[in-house]
Amino acid sequence: MSQLVFVGVIASARSLKELNAFTGYLSVESGVITSIGTKEELDNQKNKFKDFKFIQLKSNQFLMPGLIDCHTHAPQFPNIGLGLDRPLLEWLDKYTFPLESQYSNIDFASRVYDTVVQRLLINGTTTACYFGSLHKEGCLELAKSAIKYKQRALVGKVSMNVENNIGYYNDTQTELMQTEEYIQSVLEFKSELVHPIVTPRFAVSCDHELMCGLSKIAQKYNCRIQSHVSENTKEIEHVLKTFPECTTYSHVYDQCGILTKKCIMAHAVYLSKKEMELFACKGVSVAHCPASNTRLRSGLCPVKRLIDNGVTVGLGTDVSGGDSATILDAMRRAMDVSTHLELLGHEEAINWKEAFYLATLGGAKALNLDEKIGNFAIGKEFDALVVDAYSKNGPTDDYVYPLPADDEEHILNILQRFLYVGDDRNIVQPCEVLTRAVASRTGVGSGGHF
Ligand code: GUN
Ligand code: FE
Repeated sequence: MSQLVFVGVIASARSLKELNAFTGYLSVESGVITSIGTKEELDNQKNKFKDFKFIQLKSNQFLMPGLIDCHTHAPQFPNIGLGLDRPLLEWLDKYTFPLESQYSNIDFASRVYDTVVQRLLINGTTTACYFGSLHKEGCLELAKSAIKYKQRALVGKVSMNVENNIGYYNDTQTELMQTEEYIQSVLEFKSELVHPIVTPRFAVSCDHELMCGLSKIAQKYNCRIQSHVSENTKEIEHVLKTFPECTTYSHVYDQCGILTKKCIMAHAVYLSKKEMELFACKGVSVAHCPASNTRLRSGLCPVKRLIDNGVTVGLGTDVSGGDSATILDAMRRAMDVSTHLELLGHEEAINWKEAFYLATLGGAKALNLDEKIGNFAIGKEFDALVVDAYSKNGPTDDYVYPLPADDEEHILNILQRFLYVGDDRNIVQPCEVLTRAVASRTGVGSGGHF
């Protein structure tokens, strides 16, 4: 069915400050949004849509843009919820590198990645920006899974050339060669949805020469580039000791040509004002990962200050430093962390509408995908979820009921209910006509985050 009209509550962000939520209609032709309007406007031009299939949403349902996960580590999913008793650098050595090193096994990689992609789609994540592992072939399996299940994805082969105790790294020339081969292989898939992203792990695992080489590769193929920055104080100390010519962590990346408008950096917990201004000026985006920052005791990221300083911000789950694979949880954790900062006397906390923005349009901007997705606008691709705020078996099924309210209040009620207490059971799945996603739901009513 290539011509559809949705009728009901339609919600998407216009900007950080402006949520556009109303009862009306939205038409889709061949996957592209072709008109949006009020019910009255629809009634006045019914003839125009006589060949369209009409989808009438129920009163507690609404249409919203697909969620965007700007930072997650697909190979780390088997470790989700495990080994969070160590700070970042120890956690990497003890739990993360040993797991990631197993992805030389293609069968293992393909099995895990198939599950990861389906799980994220069930959680409403229609777009994900992935870190893979060091292994070219394994990462190609991740790209294939995303293509198979029609998830929009940026998929990165992780690059590392600094020695560690289990030999999980490559020498510089091998790494640069494999990165180029990996990019070429993904491009050969000719997928509109799935693209390669250059992925130097971070300045602890990559030396200057490798990072310079990778930034050149990103330029050559016009690829996005992603890494981690200023996540943890010990990490920052280590980086500044390793690169004594640099006064800040950001400077280390900047001198390699990594900080461009195609760059997305995870965490940015401890950026100075100058670094924030540098990010804003260069167009570098931040993936804010509140769950991981708390679980690994990395710190409280001042997300409002980043935004106020002009930095583009999206949300990331950062599994398995983060303990939850859903952006719904990332929204809540982002609100919590910024509330804690407000309570400590810092900037005003972000509210639920701003969290909704970060999870959708903010993420799309951070990944340079906002011409295509992030909100509902004519000409954008239709990438959406139908949410039922009171779905059968959902978390608000048996103890919370819709309250009597006028239309405007009802809209705000169902949105807030989903944002604060909803889970995957509230997302109407599978729904091939709504998103492109074809993930099939296993275990209806799981309510789990994984
Ligand atoms: N810094 C470098 N690698 C990682 C990783 O895998 N997870 C997190 N949270 N931080 C990192
Ligand atoms: Fe990460």
